[in-house]
Amino acid sequence: MTLRRLEFTVKKLLREILIQSVLSAWWVVCDFGSGFAFIPAVCEFWKNSEKHSMSLLYTSLIRPVLFQYDPELVHDVLVNWASKLQSHPGFTRQFRTLLIDETRQKPVRLWNLTFPNRVGLAAGFDKNVQAPWFWWMLGFGHIEFGGVTQFPQPGNPLPRIFRLPADKAIINRMGFNNDGMEEIAKRLEKAGPFPVPVGINIGKNKWVENDDAPAAYSAVLNQLYNFAGFFVVNVSSPNTPNLRKLQDKEALKAIFGTLQNDREQFQIRKPVLLKLAPDLSERQREEVAGLVRDLAIDGLVISNTTLDRAGLTSPGSLSSQTGGLSGRPLRSKSTEMIRQFHTWLPEVPIIGSGGIFSVQDAEEKLAAGASLVQIYTGFIYQGPGLVRELAGMQV
Ligand SMILES: Cc1cc2nc3c(=O)[nH]c(=O)nc-3n(C[C@H](O)[C@H](O)[C@H](O)COP(=O)(O)O)c2cc1C
Repeated sequence: MTLRRLEFTVKKLLREILIQSVLSAWWVVCDFGSGFAFIPAVCEFWKNSEKHSMSLLYTSLIRPVLFQYDPELVHDVLVNWASKLQSHPGFTRQFRTLLIDETRQKPVRLWNLTFPNRVGLAAGFDKNVQAPWFWWMLGFGHIEFGGVTQFPQPGNPLPRIFRLPADKAIINRMGFNNDGMEEIAKRLEKAGPFPVPVGINIGKNKWVENDDAPAAYSAVLNQLYNFAGFFVVNVSSPNTPNLRKLQDKEALKAIFGTLQNDREQFQIRKPVLLKLAPDLSERQREEVAGLVRDLAIDGLVISNTTLDRAGLTSPGSLSSQTGGLSGRPLRSKSTEMIRQFHTWLPEVPIIGSGGIFSVQDAEEKLAAGASLVQIYTGFIYQGPGLVRELAGMQV
């Protein structure tokens, strides 16, 4: 036990030394290297290469190393690093100019918000607003933080994230682990005015009964109203018992009635979107679509993770894990659902999420009727190069 702790401390120390060395080297290059001719040349190369060299670097060198370790450990360590790196504004600014070609950005105007490009970071990746400026640096045109609940909660026991490399997928059963709305309000305040729209994904604590859900969602909306550009009501996570039952007509009426009423007290009207599960039956979909029209719901996020395990090739020890499946196997399912809802509700903006691993995947979602897209699993499998490719999409 003591030996393990020692090993852990040494590893932690080595990690710190490594990150500090990388940072210092970067500072030297940024501060003193700008006179060297090779710096602009490297920048030009990075900006102009169609298939970014970073994608290749990530998939061939970085990902194989990361995938040796526990998924949640890797996620936590990387988000912590991102959080440290973003605290150097010079670093984020410099790196962004290296990664993103501003002239290729095609802004989209939706809900009175300007999205500099069509790609966002999906909910669940930065649940606690740890590294907002880092995501901006990578080129995301919007970021959805959360799921945020009224009170902090630890989520489900570990392990709760599983990689399925053979299927380019992930199964998770996180269970809304987050620091709670008060702590998250402080972090959003600290992040300051943010250059791209911020979304807040709202969930409810595990112990809150479905009848009390409107009050729980309302508490988060009110607490975070001034920090967000838009809100997303998450009633589609499979990892909180009975949460998906809130996709029923009466439950949705109660929640959206409360939230739409809440926002009347604020000067600025902010959109409140609904995120749906891809596992809804045809009858449920029709019912939800009718309700979206009746309640004038501002927009939809399609879709959350699926419980369906059809077609997986990974070993049973992985594919039979409890939780929501994301990534490749979700791609066409969520695209078809976007197409269906867009046909029924052409005037309602949709954010497409599910299995985007390339520009082509994103373009499919846009062609099906989405106005924006978000990535989570594709970001894990393809790395930051994917963000750059999607941010430069000319659609
Ligand atoms: C580990 C993990 C945690 C997630 N947490 C949330 C969450 O808190 N709220 C939410 O609405 N969606 C959450 N999602 C779903 C993603 O936002 C996204 O909708 C889904 O993974 C499909 O996109 P993808 O195939 O690009 O991953 C989570 C997904 C993963 C993999």
